[in-house]
Amino acid sequence: MEKLVVKGPTPLKGEVTISGAKNAAVAILPATLLIDGVCTIENLPNISDIKISCEILEKLGAKITWNNKNSITIDTTNINTTKAPLDLTSKFRASYYLIGAMLSRKGEIEVGMPGGCKLGARPIDQHIKGFERLGATVTVEKGTISAKAKKLTGNSIYMDIVSVGATINVMLSAVLAKGTTTIDNAAKEPHIVDVANFLNTMGADIRGAGTDMIKINGVEKLSGNATYSVVPDQIEAGTFMLAAVATKGDITLKNCITKHLESITAKIIEVGGKVEDHGDSIRVWCNQRPQKANIKTLPYPGFPTDLQPQMGVVLSIADGASIINESIWESRFQYTDELNKMGAKITAQGKTAFFEGVKKLSGAPVYSTDLRAGAALVIAGTVANGSTEIYNLEHIDRGYENIEEKFRKLGAKIERVTE
Ligand code: EPU
Repeated sequence: MEKLVVKGPTPLKGEVTISGAKNAAVAILPATLLIDGVCTIENLPNISDIKISCEILEKLGAKITWNNKNSITIDTTNINTTKAPLDLTSKFRASYYLIGAMLSRKGEIEVGMPGGCKLGARPIDQHIKGFERLGATVTVEKGTISAKAKKLTGNSIYMDIVSVGATINVMLSAVLAKGTTTIDNAAKEPHIVDVANFLNTMGADIRGAGTDMIKINGVEKLSGNATYSVVPDQIEAGTFMLAAVATKGDITLKNCITKHLESITAKIIEVGGKVEDHGDSIRVWCNQRPQKANIKTLPYPGFPTDLQPQMGVVLSIADGASIINESIWESRFQYTDELNKMGAKITAQGKTAFFEGVKKLSGAPVYSTDLRAGAALVIAGTVANGSTEIYNLEHIDRGYENIEEKFRKLGAKIERVTE
């Protein structure tokens, strides 16, 4: 078993380069199934979710060449099965994108129920509604989702809930459909725009991505033969920004899009941090104990749920009492029990958590309960006095490229140890 051992406290200082966005990359990889040919994808984060995605695509018949640890060339000319490996697809969430992509490519697909972080109920009714509106039939039975369509025809779709996954999935299924599809009440996250940009680069006709109304004019085919670079990861960037504030450090983030970080910047300034915005890089520092603040997570451009646990670490040591309202997921406060083991005073009730700021945290053995909780514990370990041991690293490795190396370069005393 592996664990991270972090010895604190250390103010994190220096430069960090942000990797490509996990939640864009896990959609762009299945989107290559829409291309009858070859394309190259760069700035892929080197994380386990990407390795599993590639393994699944290879099992479907794609040929993948790794150009370096962050770039692949993928040839999807010979997709020879419509049954995705059930064991691999149920290992992570984004396997649901195989449904939209394979409905487009082959008119048929069978995948295992998507896995991923346990954040409460994660229904996919809006995805299914979208596929059905385009003419597909979908059945969910014995842990397997099967979708079929003789022909996909464009239609208007109203999303009852703002959903990242359903917006991207419907986009994937509509790109090659006959006629025009509109998605109303679409999600607006940077990764939605990135997937649309990727598809448009390959020949799709998608307009309005990044607004709440997306229009997709179906095209005959996507031609490939292009290179695409994945957008920088908004959430990895936010994680390092909040690490700078929590540790009273001074970090410059390279390769980020600061426009995507506005809600985080606003909250950092509110808690007493300082931010210098250079467009594609950003400097964040903090010379004082963070001040209290209230947070409500919301779909983009609101404060992202995927940074809520990292913000929770900042508020756990803030001067004064704070409240976080989690409006996206039912169970995203599991990390608060772990922070309490380190001396925090947090009471979580349903979708609300109350933070009574403490002056310091102290090291303890803790368990990463999901991906972002894991990142929060790495920050907490860097803030805390003494030694913190973080277990369940498989969650962190799903979404952060080389987390310990990036933290170490900023001065953290962090080691991965095999027990
Ligand atoms: N929802 C439904 N029905 C649906 C789809 C969603 O009720 O058909 C609900 C969900 O239960 C949730 C809300 O709508 O309450 C939003 O869910 P969404 O579909 O936007 O989430 P997702 O696509 O499953 C992606 C990210 C998550 C991130 C959320 C919200 C990927 C692979 N995952 O999940 O990322 O928290 O959007 O921004 O893109 C993470 O990276 O740590 C992570 C969990």
